[in-house]
Amino acid sequence: MKTCTIEPVTAFMLSTDAIAPDKSISHRSAMFAMLAQGSSRIENYLRAEDTMNTLEIVKHLGATVEDDGNIITITSEGISESESILDCGNSGTGMRLFCGLLASATGHFVLTGDTYLRRRPMKRVTEPLRNIGAKLDGREYGNLAPLSIRGASLKAFEYESMIASAQVKSAMILAALSADGTCTYREPELSRDHTERMLRGMGAQLHVDGLVTTVEPMQGLLSPLDIRIPADPSSAFFFAVAAAIIPGSDVTIEGVTLNKTRIEAFKVLEAMGADISYTLKEDRYEPIGDIQVRYAPLHGVVVEKNISWLIDELPALSIAFASAEGTSIVKNAEELRVKESDRISTVVGNLRACGIDVEEFSDGYCVTGGVLQRACVSSYGDHRIAMSFIIAGLKCGMEVEDIACINTSFPNFFELLNSITGVMYAH
Ligand code: S3P
Repeated sequence: MKTCTIEPVTAFMLSTDAIAPDKSISHRSAMFAMLAQGSSRIENYLRAEDTMNTLEIVKHLGATVEDDGNIITITSEGISESESILDCGNSGTGMRLFCGLLASATGHFVLTGDTYLRRRPMKRVTEPLRNIGAKLDGREYGNLAPLSIRGASLKAFEYESMIASAQVKSAMILAALSADGTCTYREPELSRDHTERMLRGMGAQLHVDGLVTTVEPMQGLLSPLDIRIPADPSSAFFFAVAAAIIPGSDVTIEGVTLNKTRIEAFKVLEAMGADISYTLKEDRYEPIGDIQVRYAPLHGVVVEKNISWLIDELPALSIAFASAEGTSIVKNAEELRVKESDRISTVVGNLRACGIDVEEFSDGYCVTGGVLQRACVSSYGDHRIAMSFIIAGLKCGMEVEDIACINTSFPNFFELLNSITGVMYAH
């Protein structure tokens, strides 16, 4: 098991265009290329375990993938049956979106993942897909992977989801593209909208009106993608928190998506007192630009709205809560319990180990800011827990166990960290 020991640092400056490319957009670019006529061109694809698994699956499904080290070109002549089991590794996005993509494909497919993914709930996609005719099954009547899919014809639907989940929404939109009529999907709160932006850019007939997305079935194939993947705001956020908790620090993240469904955690950090500015530079599928974060004293905050817009950043945000003056409360965030780890229990347990006073609720937690203390904590196999507590270590020193999971989303995390610390950390 890989462990990392990190020592405290003083004020630092970092300006970087090397934050890991966006994971959500990378997964989608590889999958959606399978719906296009001709070759899709993808620049700056995330070369991390989760997204490389997706690329591998796309190959197993018959696509030709050419990679010159910078640009990945994907050419597909339709989805074909794979003789191999399709391994999504640690990725819930991979597994759930492939359910939607494969629900209508000709053939039989088996999706699996690592021990963590095989424990995560899949009923949220298998149930609505089955209700429109998909033939999906798995352990616990289709709730747990491995999942088997026998492609079938899908009925048009009007579906109202109880969870604000981009994974569920995307799976249903992908299914809708080959359903037998116009489909509508309603969500309780807007979740990240990369699928809608990218598919519309490829020519899909997809209309968004507030919380309702209407999708017309595809008439033939879509136009290919030509995309440069922006930096991932969820990965960038670890360094934003580092700047926000180390007095005198200043971080600029270049070329990151400024999509409002993705930068809410930066807005919360700003509401806590951090000095943050956003510079829009281009708009191609997504608004893209730079974010600068400068240290300023932090105070507590209540986080209870737009939870799906910052669900992935809550572990790192909790390190800012622990360093702030006063109390911070997270509510309505029960979804945290079904991420790569139960992030309510892993954040609460690890913060307590660092001497912070935390109260746990079923749907969140309350952190009383204080003095973070050096501790030995585990990642519980969750990349975002690992990186959050390494960032806490920049303030107070830390030993973090089980850090190999960082490779699922941010393989060059330690290179960037070393540019702050000047020390080579074991990884
Ligand atoms: C993702 C959606 C979110 C997020 C995950 C990536 C996506 O999950 O937590 O890391 O790419 O669609 P949910 O849609 O389940 O909330």
